[in-house]
This record gives sequence, C-alpha cells and structure tokens, in this order.
Amino acid sequence: MIIAPSILSADFSRLGEDVAIVEKAGAEYLHIDVMDGHLVPNISFGAPIVKSLRPHSNMVFDTHLMITEPHRYVEDFAKAGSDIITIHIECESDIDYTIDKIHGLGKKAGIALNPDAELSRVLPYRDKIDMLLLMTVFAGFGGQKYIPDVNSKITEARKIFGEDFDIEVDGGISAENMQVPLGAGANILVAGSAIFGAKDPAAVIKAMREKECAL
Ligand code: DX5
Ligand code: ZN
Repeated sequence: MIIAPSILSADFSRLGEDVAIVEKAGAEYLHIDVMDGHLVPNISFGAPIVKSLRPHSNMVFDTHLMITEPHRYVEDFAKAGSDIITIHIECESDIDYTIDKIHGLGKKAGIALNPDAELSRVLPYRDKIDMLLLMTVFAGFGGQKYIPDVNSKITEARKIFGEDFDIEVDGGISAENMQVPLGAGANILVAGSAIFGAKDPAAVIKAMREKECAL
C-alpha cells in the first residue's frame, strides 16, 4: 500500500512544513491536485507550487491534473519536478498524444476516471499507462464522501490490469474506510482531509499502516 497525502487540504501558508511532516511519517507519494476551474468547478494552483516544493522533498510527486487541454501544460509540470502526471479521460486533449508527451519528458503517465466514467474508456490506453486513478468522489473538491458504487470498478480494473499494476483511488478515503478500496483491489490511497485536516497528520499515517497490517 502506498499512501499519497493530498496537499489540497494542507495549510498553504506553511506548505513546506506540512509536506515535511507527511514525508517524515513515511508517506511515499505527495498527491498534487491541480484544478483549472474548467474541467472541474474549482481552482487550486499550478506548476510553480511543484517547483517550490521539489527541492524540499524526496517523495514521488504524484500530479493529478484536473484541467482541460493538459497537453499544453505537461511540460511545465515535468520541468517543475512532477514524477507521475495523471490526466483525466474527460479532458479535451488527444489522450494518446498527451501520454506520449509525458513519457517523452521521462515521466510516468496516468489516466483518471470520474465515478461516472466507464472503465471501458481507458482500455484503449491499457498498455501505455503506468497508473490508473479511479476517483471515488467527483473531482473538484476535498472533503467529499466516498462513493461506494466505485468499488466494483476497482475490482474490475484489478482483474483487467493484473496484479502488478498501480491502481490509485482518490476521494473520501480515511483510516476508517480504507479497507474498502484496498479490499476491492486498489494499492495507492490518496487522502487529503483525513490526513491534513487532522490535528496530527503523522498519527493518521501511522494508523493507516497499522490498519493495513491488521487486514
Ligand atoms: C478531489 C481531489 C482529491 C482531494 C481528496 O478532486 O482530486 O485528491 O484532495 O480529498 P479528500 O481526501 O478530502 O476527499
Ligand atoms: Zn486528486
């Protein structure tokens, strides 16, 4: 299990410190939610944040681009220090072209599906992506409730993509319900409000590890 705290729920006035806390607590990925106000209703931040954080962290920078026309921006994020760049199937770029571009920049590429997007939409890209991101809430905001209807999609994806493939889940995940997506077949858990919204983010990460061992 890989834990990917989402900085969307961090305190932006002390972002470096918040990132250091989760890194020290053993989180492997840093989930970076980029929103443009077009693909999703909300606006967050862009590549300069990635660039500022990069010298301060050795975590895998897992960049979730909730933006239209991501092919125009993937180079900025790659240069800023993203390691994985995930685009939405719903974006308005040519998916093949954009994945090739991400790979050409030496980065891993993922595709994200909102809860209402059929798994079949990602199958044409099955052999070229490094990660599948299954949204367990509708992309756009932190702090939403986990949508259990996605469980069967996680299970189906695990069957299709096989044991060694990375399936990330994102939205409404906490130490309390993490066994649900894990049991369905996910291996990377994003958690925003559950980690950064807690008084002691490191304790939440520890609790998640203990829970995994107890499963
Ligand atoms: C939602 C983002 C998520 C968000 C998760 O659109 O993609 O990564 O930060 O937040 P929580 O864990 O609070 O649902
Ligand atoms: Zn995300």
